[in-house]
Amino acid sequence: MCGILKILAFLLILEPSLAQYTANWTSLDSRPLPLWYDEAKFGIFVHWGVYSVPAFANEWFWYYWNFTAIDFDADVFAGIIKSSGAKYIVLTSKHHEGFTLWPSKQSWGWNAVDVGPARDLLGEVRNAILKVGGIHWGTYFSLLDWFHPLYLADEANNGNTSNYVQQVSYPQLLDLVNNYQPDVIWADGDWGPGMDENYYKSKEFLAWLYNESPVKNTVAVNDRWGDGVACNHGGYFTCEDHYNPGQLQTRKWEDSDTLDGAGPYGYRRTIRVAITRLVQVISKGGNYLLNIGPDSNGRVLPLFEQRLIEIGNFVRAHDEAIFKTKPWIFQNDDSLNTSSVWYTSQLRNTTGLDPYRLYNPQQQQNTIVYAFVVNWPDNNKVNLTKVIPTSSTVVNLFGANNQSIPMTYTQQSGGIQIDISGLSLTKFPSTDVFVLKIEYAADQNVNPIG
Ligand SMILES: *[C@@H]1O[C@H](CO)[C@@H](O)[C@H](O)[C@H]1NC(C)=O
Ligand SMILES: *[C@@H]1O[C@H](CO)[C@@H](O)[C@H](O)[C@H]1NC(C)=O
Ligand SMILES: *[C@@H]1O[C@H](CO)[C@@H](O)[C@H](O)[C@H]1NC(C)=O
Ligand SMILES: *[C@@H]1O[C@H](CO)[C@@H](O)[C@H](O)[C@H]1NC(C)=O
Ligand SMILES: *[C@@H]1O[C@H](CO)[C@@H](O)[C@H](O)[C@H]1NC(C)=O
Ligand SMILES: *[C@@H]1O[C@H](CO)[C@@H](O)[C@H](O)[C@H]1NC(C)=O
Ligand SMILES: *[C@@H]1O[C@H](CO)[C@@H](O)[C@H](O)[C@H]1NC(C)=O
Repeated sequence: MCGILKILAFLLILEPSLAQYTANWTSLDSRPLPLWYDEAKFGIFVHWGVYSVPAFANEWFWYYWNFTAIDFDADVFAGIIKSSGAKYIVLTSKHHEGFTLWPSKQSWGWNAVDVGPARDLLGEVRNAILKVGGIHWGTYFSLLDWFHPLYLADEANNGNTSNYVQQVSYPQLLDLVNNYQPDVIWADGDWGPGMDENYYKSKEFLAWLYNESPVKNTVAVNDRWGDGVACNHGGYFTCEDHYNPGQLQTRKWEDSDTLDGAGPYGYRRTIRVAITRLVQVISKGGNYLLNIGPDSNGRVLPLFEQRLIEIGNFVRAHDEAIFKTKPWIFQNDDSLNTSSVWYTSQLRNTTGLDPYRLYNPQQQQNTIVYAFVVNWPDNNKVNLTKVIPTSSTVVNLFGANNQSIPMTYTQQSGGIQIDISGLSLTKFPSTDVFVLKIEYAADQNVNPIG
């Protein structure tokens, strides 16, 4: 008997899917995000649909709506996503205008199979992404629908009627999950008086998603599940677009940001801004979701593609300083978001530690600290003001071709200083941002959560 109970207890610990969630926020908010999401750090957000047609939402739209996706090859597209180094993708399945990229029965005559491309673009991208491997597949879904008569009637009633939800949005969400099995559901279009989580039946949906759906163990969701929900409930917090709070957050969050489309003149600047934003965000416990939009023919503009490749080169050359890291006891060198130095960390030995811990402690024998230097330092001298050295402290630069370049340092009041003037620029994999790896620094007992 006792043995069986032990085995049962063991199974309960190992099998989180046995946990049953109830359709209320206390219960739903208690679900831990699947670990892959925190480890992934960097995703690509793809906004694609009929609003990619230039004249959408004006009188020319019906003339232009021959959205063709003629140049679209899902394998080429998946290759571009892979080259960016991102570990997840979020593709629009339906935007606010209601057009769906999959053959939704609830969107008859207004989806990519019935009109325009005559292809299941969502399914094509999903299959190509899964084939490439190493990227989690996710999808964006607009709760509201600007033109649907049922939605407009419910909206006029401030959500006191819910015919649109019963007949359209809820069945669509079930269809998406059952047939396309996304690892991310990125809800949006969640505003308007009365158009709240009760109107959209969001808590019922999430309870089903977490308890019974085919993705119950792998799915991560955001927080835009009805008016007033964002930044309060759900999975990870997105709050508003371009959300980038100043400090380490106690709940997992995501910054959905846009790649600056400035011309070639701004090219290097754009790469540096995107990489800087990525490292700022992961230093503070967030994930970075970078938006790109193919044109209506399905091409990712060559300028964007080139930028994604450059970001990918940086990310691959600094893999261990980015993926599966945790924030450190300090997020940057001067508590300002203009800081030149941002930190992440790894532990050699994580035995007995909570895999959901918000940050890694500083333990001399255990902690590896990564310092991202996002501005070229004055006089080629990098100050790391938060690192306290010991006689065994070791500093290495992430060099080109995955080489590790040992660096000497001097102690100064408040931290260490590393002179990089002896290095030729060819030793750096990227001069936009470079990374120092610090091992065996002194113990520090600091709690960044305050
Ligand atoms: C929410 O669900 C939990 C778990 O079933 C339950 O214990 C709790 O009483 C519920 N809270 C509310 C406010 O209904
Ligand atoms: C399709 O749309 C394009 C504009 O994107 C337009 O130039 C072209 O004439 C349209 N073709 C047809 C057959 O309507
Ligand atoms: C709908 O419900 C709200 C409260 O949620 C109420 O204030 C409003 O008067 C109701 N009726 C209409 C037609 O909006
Ligand atoms: C920097 O932080 C301040 C306050 O936390 C905020 O108002 C500002 O928008 C931030 N700037 C950037 C570029 O994130
Ligand atoms: C890892 O940490 C655990 C718990 O502190 C300890 O028991 C174990 O000996 C450590 N393992 C190594 C290889 O240091
Ligand atoms: C680094 O520290 C030195 C010595 O304190 C100081 O003179 C120098 O201005 C600092 N450099 C930067 C970029 O803050
Ligand atoms: C560097 O290492 C990463 C991670 O192991 C790998 O993906 C990448 O291809 C390597 N880059 C080079 C230039 O060897």
